[in-house]
Amino acid sequence: MSTPEDQFKNVISHAKEYGFIFQSSEIYDGLSAVYDYGQNGAELKKNIRDYWWKSMVQMNDNIVGIDAAIFMHPTTWKASGHVDAFNDPLIDNKDSKKRYRADVLIEDHMAKIDDKINKEVEKAAKRFEGFDEAMFRSTNARVLEYQAKKDEIHARFKAALEAGNLEEVKQIIVDCEIVCPISGSRNWTDVRQFNLMFSTSMGAVTDESNIIYLRPETAQGIFVNYLNVQKTGRMKIPFGIAQTGKAFRNEIVARQFIFRMREFEQMEMQFFVRPGTEMEWYEKWKATRIAWHKALGIDEKKYRFHDHIKLAHYANAAADIEFEFPFGFKELEGIHSRTDFDLKQHEQFSGKKLQYFDPELNASYVPYVVETSVGLDRLFLAILSTSFKEEVVDNGETRVVLSLPPQLAPIKVAVFPLMGKDGMPEKAMEIFNTLRFDHNVTYEEKDNIGKRYRRQDAIGTPYCITVDQQSIEDNTVTIRDRDTMKQERVAISALPAMIDEKVNMKYLLKKVS
Ligand code: GAP
Repeated sequence: MSTPEDQFKNVISHAKEYGFIFQSSEIYDGLSAVYDYGQNGAELKKNIRDYWWKSMVQMNDNIVGIDAAIFMHPTTWKASGHVDAFNDPLIDNKDSKKRYRADVLIEDHMAKIDDKINKEVEKAAKRFEGFDEAMFRSTNARVLEYQAKKDEIHARFKAALEAGNLEEVKQIIVDCEIVCPISGSRNWTDVRQFNLMFSTSMGAVTDESNIIYLRPETAQGIFVNYLNVQKTGRMKIPFGIAQTGKAFRNEIVARQFIFRMREFEQMEMQFFVRPGTEMEWYEKWKATRIAWHKALGIDEKKYRFHDHIKLAHYANAAADIEFEFPFGFKELEGIHSRTDFDLKQHEQFSGKKLQYFDPELNASYVPYVVETSVGLDRLFLAILSTSFKEEVVDNGETRVVLSLPPQLAPIKVAVFPLMGKDGMPEKAMEIFNTLRFDHNVTYEEKDNIGKRYRRQDAIGTPYCITVDQQSIEDNTVTIRDRDTMKQERVAISALPAMIDEKVNMKYLLKKVS
């Protein structure tokens, strides 16, 4: 049995071997935490983005999409609070010279205590028939001791973060006897804040006044355009503005492949609502977004909600949708009730009114905002890592298959002539040329049919059509299902409708509309 770490390593090498993801500038030994998407990765990523865009913009009458620039006026970031508060608390180990996020060290330590509790529960569950887990958790002395320890750290940590007390954050690390994973020592520096924004300068002169930031979130491009869109689109509250695009963060702990990158893509939607109704919309968007993820057909146990311990400077409620990656449950998407913080800040810093006149109330106000924000690359990793399977098949061989949701697969159908003669290639080409108008389809003649099937399994192609001798006689073909490997003989004339029903995005959208 391979461990989750081995599995994850296999996913990473598979992603490279099959043209999904390459390290950026690899010929120069790569650039840390920056990645390029190859021929199959770019297709999968585009399909995920389309699924998001269509379900947000196309399927909602009151949401429109925009595409704002990456560069924004530097005052934007002063107003949003990013210049002053977009920081990570960092700590260095003096022996290994490695730098860590202090909050991550403490959260990992708490997760280890959880693991110990779960082990106790598992051991007891094996020992006792009719095991009552809730009773065991509330009465077992060892579990209670672990839980009390974790609760105490949690409470101290929450208070320290809320007060911005970095000395106390360090003291928690010391008291928990957290060691550096590299040096094994507890020789820590003080904790200090580090701003995550990348900056560059605009124009010919390089001085303080020309500093410009690479946006660390796409959301601000939406806020500063809120009134432009509301007026030109004659939008009535409640309404949303959606956007997908690149964001940049100088992440210090950049690890776990495309989970935490320095250049990444976000898919964000700001929903503008009447003040006082934001909690209702916050709950609605939480439910809508989890349903959107689950419609992909991935095991539902892999998703859970996590309420934030420390709210960001702009939020009055916030939750993450977490996903069980090969390295554990981690944030996939954030849903934030951002109040009127951003619009009010932009009003103040720009001196322009950003109010909405509500005809029903006959009054003007600055709308409240509920935001949904998901990382496209992170979602890509969630889908890729759960789809990756190594299976032993009937003849004892191992096949590697990506059981991607068919609507998201880079290539929907592969068309093969069984042999390169007797009119088979011509017929297969005809089918290929018909289907390619609607879907991304490939044609292959090289190698034996088994090898061709395996190559398509490895990139997640849900259907393979084979033209054989019988096809020439009766205009039928076999269609092979990637997951069951079962083949069915069907009429060539039935293929377009049959394929469409299996891979068209609209069937996915129908599930969530
Ligand atoms: N506008 C709100 C915002 O940016 P966030 O929680 O900082 O909130 C939203 O980011 C989402 O963006 C995260 O849930 C994650 O999926 C993705 N994300 C954030 N930082 C990332 C990084 N360094 N690499 C990849 N994805 C990232």
